[in-house]
Amino acid sequence: MARTCLAVVLAAGDATRMKSSKSKVLHTVGNLPLIAHVTRTAAAAGVSKVALVVGRDAERVTEAASAGVDVPVTPVEQTERKGTGHAVLMAREIIAEGYDDVVVLYGDAPLINADSLLAATAERARGADVVVLGFRAADPTGYGRLVERDGELVAIREHREASDEELAIDFCNGGVITFAGQEAVSLLEAIGNANAKGEYYLTDIVEIARARGLRCVAIEAPEQDMMGCNTRAELAEIEAVWQARARHSAMLSGVTMIDPASTFLSFDTELGPDVMIEPNVWFGPGVRVGAGAVIHAFSHLEGADVGPGAMIGPFARLRPGTELAEKAKVGNFCETKKASVGAGAKINHLSYIGDAVVGAGANIGAGTITCNYDGQNKHVTEIGAGAFIGSNSSLVAPVRIGDGAYVGSGSVITMDVPDDALAIARARQETKPGRAARLREKIAAIKALTNKPRS
Ligand code: UD1
Ligand code: CA
Repeated sequence: MARTCLAVVLAAGDATRMKSSKSKVLHTVGNLPLIAHVTRTAAAAGVSKVALVVGRDAERVTEAASAGVDVPVTPVEQTERKGTGHAVLMAREIIAEGYDDVVVLYGDAPLINADSLLAATAERARGADVVVLGFRAADPTGYGRLVERDGELVAIREHREASDEELAIDFCNGGVITFAGQEAVSLLEAIGNANAKGEYYLTDIVEIARARGLRCVAIEAPEQDMMGCNTRAELAEIEAVWQARARHSAMLSGVTMIDPASTFLSFDTELGPDVMIEPNVWFGPGVRVGAGAVIHAFSHLEGADVGPGAMIGPFARLRPGTELAEKAKVGNFCETKKASVGAGAKINHLSYIGDAVVGAGANIGAGTITCNYDGQNKHVTEIGAGAFIGSNSSLVAPVRIGDGAYVGSGSVITMDVPDDALAIARARQETKPGRAARLREKIAAIKALTNKPRS
């Protein structure tokens, strides 16, 4: 029978060192709040429920933690910060619902891996009562040390309370502790606060469990997985690790990145096989790119669906609602927004195409602007299949350019153009023979007069 597991996620910290106007766990990595990384990983590891211990920004934190997570997330409030042991006990009633395992996770450590959580529950299934995820710290300063004897964990000693001998241990508590659900409430209630910080340390659970004849073990996870975020500098370090992982898995799935380090991905970026990405490309949330598309350098994409074989950039900006069909092109210094662009259509240079539908094979000349906003409302521009829009045209929406229609360069189009029609909407040219030469003579004469030395 499958085991049931409750995740208790701690997210009540004040996070003063972030110097932020919002809760630390709302800051993002890969454009997803830290807390959402943690709850998604817990869900991926198969937990049945998440108890979310919240303090500051409780509502927004709960919303971010629940979005896109298919297990229930129940917030419980910790009004005072009295330590990790106290924080977990805020979920007492939920723990008492009865789960085989309870796993404690930190909301500010988003790199934790579902496999590590599964390894911990596997140890529980083999009979350990408390399982601690540890890591070998390059610099163990500040971490709780894992004190082991004969393959069992005998204590977690917080840095401030550790003896010199214990301080020499580099195997540290990563903060993820899994323990027997049946014993959980009673173990947590036995935790006191007689220590250097006057806090209820969750880590005391190990010695308390052992005193009751229960078995505790530590298992090792990579140090990177346990990185926590206390400052903006650490946030950037975590982002770097997350990006490196996301890029690596994209490349293994068949994406070419010429300069991976300058490619920024979001948590939900979907890149098809044989996609080619040049340096300095930013993928905001909600981007999907079809097979074989090329994203040239310095492009910025967000909320865009890019069809197979499409070509983007260099220096293109695709904003939300952009849908490009197969082999469409959006070239340099073009911006698109809420624009559906048909197969093989070309928007190659210096254009803004917003609130628009562009038919297959249409050619949008350089500098074409859809005038979609009248100061009050947004209006739609329709451009038919195979239409040709001459350079430097303004299409004043709402307006429709028919299939196969032709718009002369420099036009300001305010009325619909039927299929296959030609529309020219600009002042008629006047040409005056010889006038340029005469103008030049006049200017020269004036110059000669004014430059004459005074007598
Ligand atoms: C904790 C561990 C330490 C471990 C380290 C790993 C304890 C006593 N110590 O230390 O062994 O090596 O994490 O990073 O558990 N929180 C609350 N409410 C509270 C207190 C904390 O929600 O009352 C949250 C914090 O926001 C944070 C997490 O719990 O996300 C950990 O608390 P923190 O004070 O950072 O613990 P450390 O001193 O780092
Ligand atoms: Ca910490």
